[in-house]
Amino acid sequence: MSHELEQLRDAALAEVVAAGDEQTLEATRIRYLGRSGTISAWAERMKSLSKEEKPAVGKLLNEARTSVTAAIAERADRLRTEKEARALANIDISLPGTVAEMGTLHPLTQMLERAISIFRRMGFALAEGPDVETEWHCFDALNTAPDHPARNEQDTFYLRDGRLLRTHTSTVQIRTMEKAPPPIRIIAPGSAYRRDEVDATHSAQFHQIEGLYVDEKVTVGVLKGTLEFFLRELFGAETQIRFRPHYFPFTEPSFEIDVKSKALRGGEKWLEMCGCGMVHPAVYEQVNSARGDNAYDPEKWSGFAFGLGMDRLAMILFGIPDLRYFGANDLRFLKQFS
Ligand code: PHE
Repeated sequence: MSHELEQLRDAALAEVVAAGDEQTLEATRIRYLGRSGTISAWAERMKSLSKEEKPAVGKLLNEARTSVTAAIAERADRLRTEKEARALANIDISLPGTVAEMGTLHPLTQMLERAISIFRRMGFALAEGPDVETEWHCFDALNTAPDHPARNEQDTFYLRDGRLLRTHTSTVQIRTMEKAPPPIRIIAPGSAYRRDEVDATHSAQFHQIEGLYVDEKVTVGVLKGTLEFFLRELFGAETQIRFRPHYFPFTEPSFEIDVKSKALRGGEKWLEMCGCGMVHPAVYEQVNSARGDNAYDPEKWSGFAFGLGMDRLAMILFGIPDLRYFGANDLRFLKQFS
């Protein structure tokens, strides 16, 4: 007759093989090998055995523990594999997957990134300033007379505290010069606001790229070369560029730049693109008085500034007929620029 321990072991092994799921298997383990399990109990019973019996029973006990533990591990493995196979059996791997939709950059952002990379190659750094501005930064410091029409309440958004939404990014010229002495070579992209009637080419919020370059011996020739290079890089080498005399209070002389190219929407028409000019000495004087020094000595330093209409550039570059699409958040529009 086999030993009681051997009978226990065989019963345990039979139960393990019959266990149909993980819970049953765990219950079996506890019954035989748990702290008060029937196999484990033999460890206690060993103490009362005679010296002669102990080695043989000890050997049996070890053997029973090892074989049942191994059988349980093997069975658990098997049950897990079967469970996984059943789960996979319900998945049709021939079905097409769900495609994660990729977002794309807004056309204005794409246009801005192109512009920034061209100006970077010419050594321009990025600068910024707040959208909510003081009247001084927006007008006075830019040599704009108190009765200038741009200041009119009909044309500008004023806050109750007297501040306003900047009507152009030229405010960043002033903020940059207040902070740092020359030389300066920056571009400042950002929003500007005017009380315009909204239509295909006007919006109360639009975007500009301001530029400012102040150094020794900066001439109109440098201004012309810089902006011609920029516009040809953006629109193509065959682009025609025209400088037209204009008036801005903060530059003298001032120009507007028109662009014409067969490659562009608008074809053979001259399209107005940019205001620019040589920084007016009165602007340096305003900056000096705010700084309390003579860092921008108009006798020593000269510079140019420009303001590019970003929405305009993007419309022409991508052939977009209506400014309002930029803010409409319509995927049918946005998806065309992926
Ligand atoms: N700030 C001007 C505008 O918004 C553009 C400009 C910028 C002109 C810099 C000259 C120099 O119309």
